[in-house]
Amino acid sequence: MKNIVILISGRGSNMQALLEAKLPCRIAAVISNRVDAEGLSIAKAHGIPTAVVEHRNYADRDSFDTALAKSIDAFNPDFVALAGFMRILSAGFVARYHGRLINIHPSLLPAYGSLNTHARALHDGVKIHGCTVHFVTPDLDHGPIIIQAAVPVLQDDTEQTLAARVLREEHRIYPQAMRWLCTDQIELTGQGKVLLKRRKQIGHTLFSPGLE
Ligand code: GRF
Repeated sequence: MKNIVILISGRGSNMQALLEAKLPCRIAAVISNRVDAEGLSIAKAHGIPTAVVEHRNYADRDSFDTALAKSIDAFNPDFVALAGFMRILSAGFVARYHGRLINIHPSLLPAYGSLNTHARALHDGVKIHGCTVHFVTPDLDHGPIIIQAAVPVLQDDTEQTLAARVLREEHRIYPQAMRWLCTDQIELTGQGKVLLKRRKQIGHTLFSPGLE
């Protein structure tokens, strides 16, 4: 059975979705870069070992990343899942976990990388927004895409209502992606594309606003 380590920085709702999904893997640990991350108590309540590597205690990114890698490697994970982990990771760290480091991002990448994705989507007036699970590469929010969910942007949306609609789907696609990874359903090609070994592909068109 594969081992997963989850990295968080805050609320931990995606981590919780992974913990509750009954994935065919062992969640070996949850590690936070903040001692006050709310997600830590959720992990403890699920009986998952936790660790804290506080970025504030390190002089620079490289020394933090080295300490973080040491903490992660103690749990011997097959995959490291970033779930609201709010630190940019160095190229060396990313290379160490090549093909094993996964992230969830609240936009349809490559649109709206980085922060404030929902406000920027509303500002631009896009009618479809969403979330993405992808492999992490040194290029921030640009790695090979595993799965995306698209949601409509509604006329009366605020940042909060749109964020909530996207988050509901984050909680569905992250467990799905990890399930595929844990059951060897995913191939990462040399060209940086993700192939699903299970060939059944069902898709639906999302119109937003809907057709009449
Ligand atoms: C999520 O929207 C995730 O996509 C983004 O940060 C947020 C973290 O939320 N990277 P949570 O901590 O998982 O509740």
